[in-house]
Amino acid sequence: MAKQKSVYVCTACGGQTLKWQGQCPHCQMWNTLTETVAEKPASRFSPVSGKSQVQNLSEIEALEEPRYVTGISELDRVLGGGLVRGGVVLLGGDPGIGKSTLLLQALSNLSMHRQVMYVSGEESAQQVALRAKRLASNVQTIPLFAEIQLETILATLGEHKPEVAVIDSIQTIYSEALQSAPGSVAQVRECAAQLTRLAKSSGTTVILVGHVTKEGALAGPRVLEHMVDTVLYFEGDMHSSFRLIRAFKNRYGAVNELGVFAMSEKGLREVRNPSALFLSHHDRQVSGSCIMVTQEGTRPLLVEIQALVDEARAPHPKRLSVGLEQNRLAMLLAVLHRHAGIPCFDQDVFVNAVGGVKITEPGADLAILLAVVSSLKNKPLLEKTVVIGEVGLAGEVRPVQRGQERLKEAEKLGFKRAIIPLSNKPKLSIGDIDVIPVGRISEAVTRMYV
Ligand code: TYD
Ligand code: MG
Repeated sequence: MAKQKSVYVCTACGGQTLKWQGQCPHCQMWNTLTETVAEKPASRFSPVSGKSQVQNLSEIEALEEPRYVTGISELDRVLGGGLVRGGVVLLGGDPGIGKSTLLLQALSNLSMHRQVMYVSGEESAQQVALRAKRLASNVQTIPLFAEIQLETILATLGEHKPEVAVIDSIQTIYSEALQSAPGSVAQVRECAAQLTRLAKSSGTTVILVGHVTKEGALAGPRVLEHMVDTVLYFEGDMHSSFRLIRAFKNRYGAVNELGVFAMSEKGLREVRNPSALFLSHHDRQVSGSCIMVTQEGTRPLLVEIQALVDEARAPHPKRLSVGLEQNRLAMLLAVLHRHAGIPCFDQDVFVNAVGGVKITEPGADLAILLAVVSSLKNKPLLEKTVVIGEVGLAGEVRPVQRGQERLKEAEKLGFKRAIIPLSNKPKLSIGDIDVIPVGRISEAVTRMYV
């Protein structure tokens, strides 16, 4: 038998090299190359649907596909109104965050009027059954298939033709055609490709569960994200019971929609009114705390930003952020110094978004800066104040999207003052909230206490 050759495959981009290197030559990531057995190229790309022909878009009947509603409205919301026939959804998240629980609950609702199947590669049938018992509803009616071999799974799905199938998880499945271990880049890519093909040709909706690496990316190549129609991420602080589910990519709906759940002893429970979830309710105002309104998809969410500024003991002061972008923090501190004359170069700065929520939009800039200033001066902001706004490199406060809705939400939750970008100033007053429009960062700093 010929000696097996190995190649080095990048776990981030799927690129290959013949020799090991510290840096992937394709995507320039460090320490991502792992050794795998070289696969023999096989011609496995037989066309799916016979011969295709060129057609005019206008001649093709664009039927609006009916959605399979999962009955969990927070999940339906992130999916853009439910699952789509023949769609492929990838659900990523840390281990133990509740992916299997959520999907069991969703399948249990779907199984009332649809054919479903749960393929478990991670847990044995007994373990799934044990969990199902805890989730009091009618999970007992879900057909379960404990298997990790792709060919057997494809055959079973082809035979039973379920309308919705869950594969838990893609990293445990392996194909006979490849020699590399389950979870390797080649296997994950091949299995996902085959399952996607099955979904498109048979109309089965496939939900793939994917693991997330320490850095928060889906383990396995990015190609997985390109292959599927929808990518959902489960996030949240493991120490609190709240879980967020976010659409990262969605061919059938809006992205950045947010679903909110709480983990209880009876599985995941929906949180219908999450806007005040991420506030830590202090009995009086404390310094270094500033409340902002972020807009996630169609829903505004109030989040407390906390900052701690402390004299640095080391030559290089620390800049740490949890739930917010670290590089952006360094940039904001430079803007604060240059345009508001408040230096932090001899201070360690830590910022945190309360409740394990991740804020990716720049609308948090102004709140971060005011929290930093408040901590530095050890003086709390005035009571019941919310802060919204992006800060530019020239020290200007830039407008945010849907400013009105954010203000309305803050007003509804009893806030009395709002520091907002000048261009977001509402034409009519909103309730009895006192709106303070600011154009520059220096103005915002002077208006935080008066
Ligand atoms: P699980 O769905 O197994 O996570 P994943 O599939 O993402 O790895 O969730 C497991 C966690 O959820 C575990 O820590 C226990 C907790 N849990 C509850 O708190 N209540 C419940 O009813 C269930 C089923 C799980
Ligand atoms: Mg699981």
